[in-house]
Amino acid sequence: MRKFFLALLFVVGSGLPAFAARAYTEPYLVSLTPSTEMNVCWLLAEAGEGAWVEFGETETLGRKAEARVYEVKGLRTSAKPDGYDPEPEKNPELKVFQRIATLKGLKPGTEYRYRTVVVEGGKTTEGPVYSFRTAPVAGGSPFRFILLSDLQQKKQILETVSMAGRQNADFILYAGDFQNTPWKAAEWFPVEGSFIAPEEKGREWFTAMQQTANGAKLLQYIPIFPCPGNHEADDQRIWTDKQLAQDSSKKTLSIYMQLFRPLYPDQEHGQGGTHWYSADYGDLHIVSLSLFRWHPWSGFEAPGWILFDDISPESPQVRWLEEDLKNKTSRFTWVVQHWHMLNRGAEVWVPMSRPVIYPVSPDVAMYPLGDHCWNVLRPLYEKYGVNAVNFGHSHVYERYLINGVNYIEAATIGNNYRGEDDPLHFSGNAPIVEQNQHRSVLVVSVTSEGMSAEAVRASEDGDGAVKVGEVFDSFVIAPLK
Ligand SMILES: [Fe+2]
Ligand SMILES: [Fe+2]
Repeated sequence: MRKFFLALLFVVGSGLPAFAARAYTEPYLVSLTPSTEMNVCWLLAEAGEGAWVEFGETETLGRKAEARVYEVKGLRTSAKPDGYDPEPEKNPELKVFQRIATLKGLKPGTEYRYRTVVVEGGKTTEGPVYSFRTAPVAGGSPFRFILLSDLQQKKQILETVSMAGRQNADFILYAGDFQNTPWKAAEWFPVEGSFIAPEEKGREWFTAMQQTANGAKLLQYIPIFPCPGNHEADDQRIWTDKQLAQDSSKKTLSIYMQLFRPLYPDQEHGQGGTHWYSADYGDLHIVSLSLFRWHPWSGFEAPGWILFDDISPESPQVRWLEEDLKNKTSRFTWVVQHWHMLNRGAEVWVPMSRPVIYPVSPDVAMYPLGDHCWNVLRPLYEKYGVNAVNFGHSHVYERYLINGVNYIEAATIGNNYRGEDDPLHFSGNAPIVEQNQHRSVLVVSVTSEGMSAEAVRASEDGDGAVKVGEVFDSFVIAPLK
């Protein structure tokens, strides 16, 4: 496994490693228009005097895009070498600069090579040459993508993500929960002198997602389309601390939204902001929603569980979703949302809607509007022909098919939260396939024949009936109409 405490950069002309431009990450790719435009983003310890990306269709590159600079606010190191102060503000802020170059005017379905260049302290340093392929036009060449989510420094994520990176995929759909605590910089990338639990060292999110050993091609090579999960809330104490949970200023997604800035151009980090987007990739329309809640109280204890972003019928997110689905022109449609539409487990018995206090007993929260995931989102998915919805959060592998819509959680990436006796979803639907004995990766293919998926086993644990690398679940998501 490759580690990069400092990205290996070279001073032009000297051939020696340079530390003038300390990079926290390798470049990563995001785009809302991936057939013609790509954003190359990377994180540095210093802004430098200038930075750009050289790119082109051949080894000589030939084109150049200037990189804008942003300071990423809110990342912190540990107050002590052996741990964090529980109050985020009492841990020192880490200066992190984000460079973003937007490569424009690209040809669809075309491979481009690129490298980052940074000027700092009068020295010019070049990164390695990577490549990416732009999305095909609708009706164009076939493509593949992988589902990931919930890395959170869990055991075995390195092996699972490495296998995902060897599936020859064109992009990643990431269903939220990147790490455990977003303000801890050392959970995103290695930070010298900052605490990280020994068992989590080397499992930082970017370290896992930028592996290149054994031919893995991940964030440097293929764009990612993420959605936020509950672990993207900046201050994780809102999930357990009853007082802080009522402080609306604590309910922000600022670190996540800064890191994936080109997907959220308005950068509205707080509640009421826009935390969703859509993009077309060839024949596929991708919709990314913001769907999760917090739970310092038990579900039916006042004030109850409250959604971070509302999904009631007249909410901005649902109004946007319906407009988006109405106007899409792609052959296939996929929604990524962190919270499960369907799932076994006690959590699903607390409806996803605004709780009200039971008037006779002020300690009791009730949900008279029912589950908006089920009674608001699901009818929209069925009405507008959504082919699949995938989610994370429960760290399980299971899938359902209801009225033509596939509901998939392929999140057995590094651990598993499925209990033996977890109750079925309140609708009574049982998973068609459930496989939580081992880690896995789901690979989806879009071809002229339609859209189909294969789940690939990624770990040795479990019954051993299927070997690592073998397909244990294969299904058609949408045949060609
Ligand atoms: Fe998770
Ligand atoms: Fe989660």
